[in-house]
Amino acid sequence: MALPRSEYLSSVWRDGIFDGKVIFCTGGGGTICSAQVRAMVHLGANACIIGRNVEKTENMAQSIATARPGSKVIGIGAVDVRRIESLEKAVERCVQELGAIDYVIAGAAGNFLAPISGLSANAFKTVIDIDTIGSYNTLKATLPQLLISAKKNPNTGTNTSTGGRIIFISASFHYTGMPLQAHASVAKAGVDALSANVALEYGPLGITSNIITPGPIAGTEGMARLGDKDAEASGAAQRKNPLGRYGTVKEIADGTVYLFSDTGSYVNGEVLVIDGGGWRVTGSFEGKRSYPDYLFDGSFAKADAGRKAKL
Ligand code: COA
Repeated sequence: MALPRSEYLSSVWRDGIFDGKVIFCTGGGGTICSAQVRAMVHLGANACIIGRNVEKTENMAQSIATARPGSKVIGIGAVDVRRIESLEKAVERCVQELGAIDYVIAGAAGNFLAPISGLSANAFKTVIDIDTIGSYNTLKATLPQLLISAKKNPNTGTNTSTGGRIIFISASFHYTGMPLQAHASVAKAGVDALSANVALEYGPLGITSNIITPGPIAGTEGMARLGDKDAEASGAAQRKNPLGRYGTVKEIADGTVYLFSDTGSYVNGEVLVIDGGGWRVTGSFEGKRSYPDYLFDGSFAKADAGRKAKL
């Protein structure tokens, strides 16, 4: 049964804006990337989703296809982004069956919580291999198709149907550093740097490259792996976010449609952080009371009153 549109896409987007276009997404069996692809398919695109697990990837493709009657969604399993040859074969199959690749999401990632003291050299390298090298492999394997699409659908500022776009999925750990996340921080810093270079080297050929950085998104594999269950159950984890809640997959999908559609034509080399402002909280005051309680419990109002009285 098809998921209600409201679960993965805002009502503001017009049906058919991606008619005749094809999206290729690594990590497409995952909670966030599948919502991004489902939104694109709903709005007219056909899709190839890529994953390591065959059954999970094929089942997700079938589920995404319910977003629009008549859509074609292919699940290509047994592909490891660490091996460029397996990605190249997936690209070949996608083009053979769907005719093109206009949009790419490099979404495959690996992560776990580990302090540096518990992180072997191989564990560190494994995450770099999946996230950074895997993103590079995805780019290299799809670039020939992105170039064809960019030429066919030029980004002129007046053409409302452009192609040749890539989004890398990143994180914000490396903005500040994050305990237990040395491996992912380094890996995602590399992904951000890669996207900036793609924007500069391939912008002149009509391709746009951008980053989407999701914050804590409810119901995802990432939060199941990395979230603090007790703090989530009590609501403390959600309260730490300036907006007082976790995000939804729909909010990441909306960012994707913004960047891939006409609305994002002049956005290149950018990082779109969709996290409710959460990453900035690391820089906030942490005293006896935790963020954001001390903003509202009068602690600082009293201090201010005392200071004013002396003046
Ligand atoms: N803490 C510390 N080290 C860990 C670890 C953990 N929780 N999990 C794995 N490792 C280490 C392993 O011990 C191994 O190192 P070693 O050879 O020195 O012992 C290294 O990482 C590779 O692990 P392995 O299980 O062989 O790699 P893999 O390629 O099968 O799996 C992972 C890759 C580890 C990233 C795995 O978690 C994975 O497949 N994740 C995919 C899904 C995912 O993470 N999604 C991200 C959502 S945010």
